[in-house]
Amino acid sequence: MMDMSVMDLPVDHPGVDDQDYRHRRAQIAALAGSWMPGAAIPIAEYTAAEHDVWARVAQQLRRRHQERCSGAFLDGAMSLALPQDHIPQLRDLNERLRAASGFSLAPVPGLVPARTFYGSLADRTFMSTQYVRHTSVPFYTPEPDVIHEVVGHLNLIANPTFAELHRLAGETSRRCLSDQAHEFFSRVFWFTLEFGTVWEGDELKAYGAGLASSFGELEVFRNAEIRPFNIIEMGTLDYDISAYQPILFSVPSVEFLTDRLGRFFSDFDDDMYEGWIRGAAFESRR
Ligand SMILES: [Fe+2]
Repeated sequence: MMDMSVMDLPVDHPGVDDQDYRHRRAQIAALAGSWMPGAAIPIAEYTAAEHDVWARVAQQLRRRHQERCSGAFLDGAMSLALPQDHIPQLRDLNERLRAASGFSLAPVPGLVPARTFYGSLADRTFMSTQYVRHTSVPFYTPEPDVIHEVVGHLNLIANPTFAELHRLAGETSRRCLSDQAHEFFSRVFWFTLEFGTVWEGDELKAYGAGLASSFGELEVFRNAEIRPFNIIEMGTLDYDISAYQPILFSVPSVEFLTDRLGRFFSDFDDDMYEGWIRGAAFESRR
């Protein structure tokens, strides 16, 4: 049986040598692990230092969001109305999110398998971690923590248009039975709902959760190579999760995204993947 008193962390994790942090993290993970669907989400008793990390990040991000995030993201943020001075409980956010866009939360102890995470979106469920990043580096986390999930993903999912795109993505994930088609799908998800950008007039704005939850990346994302929305390019491009993204994809409007990405999520499956890959191979031979 797994020892839940300390969790395994990668050697470059900022909290790897901090036994207190590892115990806290394991406690909160165990709490999420004990949850059963249908029950109320357990309350995580955060420490003052953990609330302080949230406050520092949330206040900085809020200023950046006004300047750098799309109106669609800000609309979601407005209806979720996250607190600035303390970590909100997932239990409370669950109510607000349901009212805003019909999505519910499921607490998870840590990273879950990709198909489980994406698949749950089809049931309008977002699986969220509850633990907080290490207090020594408030603006960095090598793994999704409650700040990334809530400030990045939930603000976006609170917008009904984006909630529907997430639900459709969940259905795509369940439809893609081959690993290759699923990988293609998850890359498109990465370059849109995690790292997507949209033009508002002549200003490039972020809507993706990965951008919206990173103070540093919101500062620099406009310096990336900005390519126009292209499903095949996104689905076949490699990316590195540990660095700022050197290539981002943009759409001319949220309506364009809803139409094109929505259509891709609705139609894509193993057969379409095979057809496209064969077609691309044919193109490159000509
Ligand atoms: Fe994410």
